[in-house]
Amino acid sequence: MRGVRAVVLAAGKGTRMKSAVPKVFHELCGRSMLWWVLQALHGTGVEEIVVVASPEMEEVLATMKAGGRIVVQREQLGTGHALRIALEALEPRKGGRILVANGDMPLVTPEIFRGVIGALGDGAMSLVTVRAEATSNFGRIVRKGERVERIVEARDATPVELAIEETNAGIYAIDEAKARDAVGALRNENAQREYYLTDTVERLASAGERVTPVLCREESSLVGINDRTELASARRSMNERLCAAHMRDGVTIVDPQTTYLEPELEIGRDTVIYPNTAITRLSRIGEGCTLGPNARFSNAKVGNRTEVRESVILDSTIGDDAHVGPFAHLRGETVLGNEVRIGNFVELKNAKLGIAAKASHLSYIGDATVGDEANVGAGTITCNFDGTRKNRTKIGKRALIGSNSSLVAPVEIGDDALTGAGSVVTKDVPAGGRVAGNPARPLPKKKPS
Ligand code: UD1
Ligand code: MG
Repeated sequence: MRGVRAVVLAAGKGTRMKSAVPKVFHELCGRSMLWWVLQALHGTGVEEIVVVASPEMEEVLATMKAGGRIVVQREQLGTGHALRIALEALEPRKGGRILVANGDMPLVTPEIFRGVIGALGDGAMSLVTVRAEATSNFGRIVRKGERVERIVEARDATPVELAIEETNAGIYAIDEAKARDAVGALRNENAQREYYLTDTVERLASAGERVTPVLCREESSLVGINDRTELASARRSMNERLCAAHMRDGVTIVDPQTTYLEPELEIGRDTVIYPNTAITRLSRIGEGCTLGPNARFSNAKVGNRTEVRESVILDSTIGDDAHVGPFAHLRGETVLGNEVRIGNFVELKNAKLGIAAKASHLSYIGDATVGDEANVGAGTITCNFDGTRKNRTKIGKRALIGSNSSLVAPVEIGDDALTGAGSVVTKDVPAGGRVAGNPARPLPKKKPS
């Protein structure tokens, strides 16, 4: 999109959100409204993006990865004033075109933006219009014959104007020089004492300039979010889109309505996701997995053919052909090898389990390394905290930890070693060693039979 620069209007107070957080920072599907708008603009291929922000937004915006250039609007005097400030900050360009987007419309797609830019041609302005119900609070498009004459805000409209079904979506492409002239001449004589960007339409049209409406039939992409019910319904639409994209790529989602996704996830084909499952924060899931029902993945990496049922996986990695859950909790950079089995009511924190290791029932394994094929019995606890410090437990390959063992860290259980049921292990156990009791002591050697 050569010669097209975009302005995002995002400084509005958003009073209807009733929030301490600026409106466009409210999130849907794990990203702020503003992030989604910027993402769509990047997808449109505009040359530069300017975000009009309020002073309190500046700090957060500076840290936003998908950001554009920030221009601060000290006082929110209306959408027209916001555009004027953005234009003042942009180096004037001959023949430039400006795309204007609202920061509170996260569902707008790059195709809609491209459509309105395409319709501008060598006219003065093009704008996206949408058919809406009489209850809509969008501005009404007043036409004279085929031509657009002006836009009237719902608040300022007469009953006859309110009955107009064609409304203003708030997305415009404007010839840069004409935009500069028009916003400079705006007045604030209206219900809100604001400088309305929409008033530029009347000014341009009455001067005989070409203003081209682009009727968009994707009503669901053109919702503006002003309160929390609108935020919730936009989230549903966005989530539906995300689910649809993964389903197209070969993921089975049993119930998209109760599967909660975010952008920038990887999910391999033939993975099946059961209801009430959330996959968030850049998680990567392999092929042929079974996830859920009732599972949460946050910054999780899961290999292929792994099953995770009714569990919470945070900042952790699981290998191939593993089984986790129901009711397991992995956190703190836990890493499970291939073919590991984790059963119900097992919590793992910063633990590393080798290939085919097992902890099937009721355990806390924290700050621990567990060798390949070791079996951690029911009720085993790694006592990692001595009141001051966190200490590590090491369990060797093929070790057998008896039910209800307490392993008091720092402690090391050797390869092929065994602890008896109920052992309280306070000292290292050598490879092949067998201990039991409280405190655990070596068991007498078996008599040769
Ligand atoms: C605006 C349009 C309306 C259109 C609707 C579509 C005007 C006057 N009206 O109304 O015709 O149907 O969008 O969503 O433009 N903002 C600023 N600075 C300000 C005021 C607003 O940056 O001083 C930003 C807001 O953060 C928001 C956007 O501009 O992202 C639109 O403002 P908002 O107050 O939501 O306007 P609407 O009443 O929705
Ligand atoms: Mg709005």
